[in-house]
Amino acid sequence: MITIGNIQLTGFPLLLAPMEDVSDPPFRAVCKENGADLMYTEFISSEGLIRDAIKSRKKLDIFDYEKPIGIQIFGGDEDSLAMAAKIVDVTNPDLLDINFGCPVKKVACKGAGAGVLKDIDLMVRLTDAVVKSTSLPVTVKTRLGWDEQTKNIEEVAERLQDVGIKALAIHGRTRSQMYKGEADWSLIAKVKNNPRIQIPIFGNGDIDSPQKTVEYKNRYCVDGIMIGRAAIGYPWIFREIHHYMQTGELLPSPTVEERVEVSKNHLRKSVEWKGPVVGINEMRRHYSNYLKGLPGIKEFRNKLVTLKEVEEVEAVLDEVQEHYQGFEVERAPIVLENYHEHCAV
Ligand SMILES: Cc1cc2nc3c(=O)[nH]c(=O)nc-3n(C[C@H](O)[C@H](O)[C@H](O)COP(=O)(O)O)c2cc1C
Repeated sequence: MITIGNIQLTGFPLLLAPMEDVSDPPFRAVCKENGADLMYTEFISSEGLIRDAIKSRKKLDIFDYEKPIGIQIFGGDEDSLAMAAKIVDVTNPDLLDINFGCPVKKVACKGAGAGVLKDIDLMVRLTDAVVKSTSLPVTVKTRLGWDEQTKNIEEVAERLQDVGIKALAIHGRTRSQMYKGEADWSLIAKVKNNPRIQIPIFGNGDIDSPQKTVEYKNRYCVDGIMIGRAAIGYPWIFREIHHYMQTGELLPSPTVEERVEVSKNHLRKSVEWKGPVVGINEMRRHYSNYLKGLPGIKEFRNKLVTLKEVEEVEAVLDEVQEHYQGFEVERAPIVLENYHEHCAV
């Protein structure tokens, strides 16, 4: 049993990573249905929350069925973060997460996100300010350090634990690496094995299959694993990992019915949360992933990405289901996109 404040997670928890423009309520809904044990919102600017920016406010939307859920904030200023923590408090998530990992220039170079990795004293002060401003359990997500020369995660973990964080998620890369190279989990294991560290340590970086999850769980002894890119377009990853951990067997690839069902659920939630126009538009990028591997799907997909009414989209999804009834999609490895500077984080 893993405990984070009042949250109790049974078994080996699988966390859906916070991802800007991805981990919104519609996407979280399909991940939750498929076994994500703990989820986070996209990161939310503390300054934006204080200014009451609509975009930041909207990201605070969380729903009962998502619980346990964490709201993630970022910022480089103690007062702003503390005030943002108070705003988050009233929305009543299960935890408040601080992002000290974001490598993008617009965030990191203003001193927020992974920019704080250059200044551990500041990181500790910021965290302390948040812990003191909220009754929620505070957690942190960060990287190994700023660059190859400053991989200070061991010191960071101890000092953040000392000011009261309740869990730490570590992406096994430095800020300079962005998404290049392979995530290095050996330092994550060192943090976990430090006898001073009592809080749960979650490993993150490059997990893309049930087999790798089990291998990394055993090799690095983390308390849970956080999954980001592998869940984009493939929310089934969570249930596949759970099943493999319980039985040692791989589930078959999702059926056509399941693919259509997820597409419909995601669409329905998108429309509910974003309204019909944006909801239908933003859903378009997801169909090719959800329906990947179906021969000749392009013809259907071309229709799906042009239709403007929910009923029309659903009708085409019904056609897909009928057309491919009983077709077994071959299991294919998940390809992790190598996000570099062009990407939001
Ligand atoms: C599109 C995208 C958006 C991201 N946004 C955030 C974010 O808002 N907050 C955060 O802490 N990390 C963010 N990340 C980093 C992920 O949470 C995660 O640490 C990273 O992708 C490595 O995990 P993975 O290999 O499982 O994808 C983002 C990553 C991607 C790909």
